[in-house]
Amino acid sequence: MGGLFWPSALRGLRGGPRVPGRSPLVRPGSGLPPALKRGPSWTRERTLVAVKPDGVQRRLVGDVIRRFERRGFTLVGMKMLQAPESILAEHYRDLQRKPFYPALIRYMSSGPMVAMVWEGYNVVRASRAMIGHTDSAEAAPGTIRGDFSVHISRNVIHASDSVEGAQREIQLWFQSSELVSWADTAQHSSIHPA
Ligand code: PPS
Repeated sequence: MGGLFWPSALRGLRGGPRVPGRSPLVRPGSGLPPALKRGPSWTRERTLVAVKPDGVQRRLVGDVIRRFERRGFTLVGMKMLQAPESILAEHYRDLQRKPFYPALIRYMSSGPMVAMVWEGYNVVRASRAMIGHTDSAEAAPGTIRGDFSVHISRNVIHASDSVEGAQREIQLWFQSSELVSWADTAQHSSIHPA
């Protein structure tokens, strides 16, 4: 994991278009040493999950990671950083006309956040279900927002809302060299369908 404020963590976020990163759709075993080239034949998906500054302040990072690990997803990238406004502007580019946009950018850049890339079968859809409704008042108990958040402007966590969105967001927040492909060992292969 890149350290807080480490130049290496921010390097992937600065300046110009991203180096084309790995697609969130990854054929298992591709690019892996032969010993790791086993596992399911389905095409894995990747998504961006970010614990927002309020989630970090409330020490919820461990709980979030635990939920994703227990579900059976694979962590392939993680960094802690204070997000530059330029990256947030690109990340939330579709929201620029929303009345809450300035406050959203202020809040998201107000303290450290933890950005992660998770991989697994249908991980984009599953992550959205796990984090719960955007509006905390609508979020079901058992979801991350339903368990920890009481207001939409402090809703703890972000997860990409589509496979295409995930691809864009992963390339925005991570260099391809910051993502690690690794395979389930044989004894854990029951997590995913063959
Ligand atoms: S919208 O309004 O339909 O675009 O909203 P939605 O798609 O559900 O949410 C997009 C992101 O905007 C955040 N959001 C807000 N932030 C602060 N205040 C208010 N009122 C607000 N409404 C929506 C919401 O959390 C989404 O960000 P992410 O990072 O995806 O959670």
